[in-house]
Amino acid sequence: MSTKGFIFDLDGVIVDTAKYHYLAWKNLANSLGFEFTEEQNELFKGVSRVRSLDILLELGSYNATPEQKDGWLVQKNEEYLSYIKKMDASEILPDVPRVLDVLLQNEQGVALGSASKNARPILEKVGLLMKFQHIVDGNDVTAAKPDPEVFLLGAQKLGISPQDCIVFEDSIAGVQAANTAGMISIGIGEQEFLHEADHVFKDFTEISDRFLMDLINK
Ligand code: BG6
Ligand code: MG
Repeated sequence: MSTKGFIFDLDGVIVDTAKYHYLAWKNLANSLGFEFTEEQNELFKGVSRVRSLDILLELGSYNATPEQKDGWLVQKNEEYLSYIKKMDASEILPDVPRVLDVLLQNEQGVALGSASKNARPILEKVGLLMKFQHIVDGNDVTAAKPDPEVFLLGAQKLGISPQDCIVFEDSIAGVQAANTAGMISIGIGEQEFLHEADHVFKDFTEISDRFLMDLINK
């Protein structure tokens, strides 16, 4: 059996926090007088907080000063933190623990590769922090997805070459980052958005132990 590196995105892959990010951005947009749809939100998935605000303001054709932007970034994060404060293990997405356990029982490398600066407290709250050998998050990288930095750093920390790594992602930007890193990309979500991924599954319940073993033994 070979050792592969399995790198998981957090928001929308491990936990259902994508809805909280959306809600907080939507409330900010509404308070500035414009709409923000779920379809537009697809472009925000995997994207850093700072870049997300810039895209939001572009969508609303809203000109802002750097001071206003700083204030809104704090406001958005505070609202987001108020949602995640209440999180517990019930918000882990279906079958994530099974997949992590199969990988760990087979002595595979398991890391987190997330754009979020809130990754550690979220993993702690849902009780999954101990499952990850390494965490690479928004505090560790300078270039945001679709730049491959977050995944390349994850591979480096695991000590596994990028071509032996497999990435689970729910965002278009994240799938592109994995592909650019030369890794196998597995999209979690809709084929419609994630068609650039090597494989797409609606959620982890569709990923069998057999499929995981095939990835390990490839
Ligand atoms: C990504 C999310 O994982 O993290 C984005 O998909 C989010 O929606 C980004 O903007 C940054 O997260 P945070 O928690 O640092 O604001
Ligand atoms: Mg995500």
